[in-house]
Amino acid sequence: MHILILALGALVTSTLAVPSSTYVRHEKRNNLPPGWVKDQRLSGHEILPMRIGLAQSNLDKAEEYLMEVSHPDSPKYGQHWTAKQVAETFAASQESVDGVTEWLESSGIAPERVRKSQSLGWLHFNATVAEAEDLLKTEYYLHKHTATGKPHVACYEYHIPAHLQPHVDFITPTVHFDTKIPQAALPKRKIEDANVEKRTPTLSTAAAGVPVQTKAAVNVITNPNNGYHPKKGVDINIKGIIAELENCDQFIVPDCLRALYEFPPNIAANSKNSYGIVEYTPEAYLQGDLNMFFANFSTNQKQKTPTTDLVDGAVVQTQVESFEYNGESDLDLEYAMTLVNPQPVTLYQVGDLEEGASFNTFLDSIDGSYCTYEGGDDPTQDPTYPDPLPGGYTGPENCGGFSATKVISTSYGYNEADLTPAYEIRQCNEYMKLGLQGTTILYSSGDNGVAGNGGQCIGPGGVYNDGTSGMFNPGFPSTCPYVTSVGATQIVPGASVTQPEEACETVIYSGGGFSNVFALPSYQSAAVKSWFANHPPPYTAAQFNNTQKSRGFPDVAANGANYVVAIDGAFSLVYGTSASAPVTGSIITLINEARLTIGKSSVGFINPTLYANPGLLNDITKGGNQGCGTPGFTAVQGWDPVTGLGTPNFPKLLAKFLTLP
Ligand SMILES: *[C@@H]1O[C@H](CO)[C@@H](O)[C@H](O)[C@H]1NC(C)=O
Ligand SMILES: *[C@@H]1O[C@H](CO)[C@@H](O)[C@H](O)[C@H]1NC(C)=O
Ligand SMILES: *[C@@H]1O[C@H](CO)[C@@H](O)[C@H](O)[C@H]1NC(C)=O
Repeated sequence: MHILILALGALVTSTLAVPSSTYVRHEKRNNLPPGWVKDQRLSGHEILPMRIGLAQSNLDKAEEYLMEVSHPDSPKYGQHWTAKQVAETFAASQESVDGVTEWLESSGIAPERVRKSQSLGWLHFNATVAEAEDLLKTEYYLHKHTATGKPHVACYEYHIPAHLQPHVDFITPTVHFDTKIPQAALPKRKIEDANVEKRTPTLSTAAAGVPVQTKAAVNVITNPNNGYHPKKGVDINIKGIIAELENCDQFIVPDCLRALYEFPPNIAANSKNSYGIVEYTPEAYLQGDLNMFFANFSTNQKQKTPTTDLVDGAVVQTQVESFEYNGESDLDLEYAMTLVNPQPVTLYQVGDLEEGASFNTFLDSIDGSYCTYEGGDDPTQDPTYPDPLPGGYTGPENCGGFSATKVISTSYGYNEADLTPAYEIRQCNEYMKLGLQGTTILYSSGDNGVAGNGGQCIGPGGVYNDGTSGMFNPGFPSTCPYVTSVGATQIVPGASVTQPEEACETVIYSGGGFSNVFALPSYQSAAVKSWFANHPPPYTAAQFNNTQKSRGFPDVAANGANYVVAIDGAFSLVYGTSASAPVTGSIITLINEARLTIGKSSVGFINPTLYANPGLLNDITKGGNQGCGTPGFTAVQGWDPVTGLGTPNFPKLLAKFLTLP
């Protein structure tokens, strides 16, 4: 973190006549994120590295553009854009640059002090605290992270001239806080009674959004003698499970999923097809685990490895092996690689062992235009590369060094309330751009029902609580209307693979609810309106955003209970939307293969097609997603904020997508 630079002396400001322009509040923070305390006010002569993110052009037409290439009724369906078209369409306008530059000059910051990023996306300048406070009508305070002592400069709200609001995305450093990727969306494993040792609660129980989580993991890795010993969990005797569909209600293996969603084992690979799984260091797969899984469940891909793209000093670490470190990656890769075999799977392993990474780190690596260093990311919320921490990655940030696969599945997530709306909107727009280029983006919806990571809900003053009360805590990026959010189902205990599933209520509850940031997208409008009309929930605005104007999630669901996964040399049962997302991604990948083989495009953003044709999914009408001291929402006929439109029906999806241009 290089937020605060001590003043080196002269930055003499000449005060020009300030034109009277009405200032309006641009961003505001109500509370500090967990783990931070306010320290003293900053002295006026210290220097802040200011960055102004300029609004991109044509974002108001984004949904329209995306629908043009994604809506099944559009004559331009599947005519995806090139990266160049995307960059040119959304570049910041000269008008924005000029307007902001004039404002800075009138406030005493001369144009020669202001540097522009190549893409015109950002303006940079160094300012004294006094200058910044005057410019933004705010006060800057030092904050301390209680666990690590790490300092951070922030204000609680800031203002800009009203006429510039449409031109300015956000300004840093201001209200943003360092919130690296929480690992709380890890799949859960059922701890069975007697002979199982309780695992040391580490990553999965820590509060979401607290950066020390990642650091705790790192310390474990870099210091093997600190007393951490991986613990063994439930072992499954897989004799008798293989190739048997009778036990799918207790043990999910690949054939259970094929039976549930009616898709065959894949037989061919298409060179134009691709499927990506994203993992964040220090999470790592073990080749031995993949081998063991394949030997039992996918015998024609023995020893197969994923194609690995290492982003920003990433390593697939093997220093520490435990469920917390290997569970997610093993699960994702074992199932994805098996279900789409022989189609190769790309593993995007993101971030080094010191800083970790954020979703933006990954997005930079597949889209150079999102990167535009020193612009692009928000250094208060995203790691910076080269890594300033000792032992970190010393190379430059990866900007567009890798290409996006046709389908990308990620089983990690934030609480929407962890991050600022501006940051989320900016990232969400990037998912829109990837959709325009024909990529399907899938995120798991979360494992805590209507509660957030770690089962936490939002108490008075916006503070996260223990989850027994409070406001529902929706997840991001699931609330971004340009991703496909995947919830979890289970086979009804005792039932067979041919009977309807229900919402997952074993160990985990399907994440679902309504955004507090993103508006209801047009493609989802009828589904959400009908849900409110026919199944009004027994909650008020005190629990969730009940305006009927905000984005609901998840969009779809897939099985998330009792997965048999090889982890650290043993088969364990694993639970979570962490499983649902890569399985859904595998099914989309098989559909892409069929389309690519007959010379059509990938399916890209699938939500408009799914909502226009809800019959392509198996509607789930049983179960709920409890949380925050409530039963949560209930799965009902039609879309619901538990299982979305339902689970994939491969034959119907395939038939529909093959008829589209
Ligand atoms: C701000 O100051 C730092 C440290 O002196 C310098 O490296 C950087 O280039 C300056 N930035 C601008 C935009 O002038
Ligand atoms: C299947 O997994 C078991 C561990 O439960 C392992 O011992 C065995 O070698 C695997 N089967 C094959 C054919 O490799
Ligand atoms: C509810 O959602 C809408 C649309 O996303 C948003 O404008 C509004 O501020 C949200 N309400 C609350 C209380 O967060």
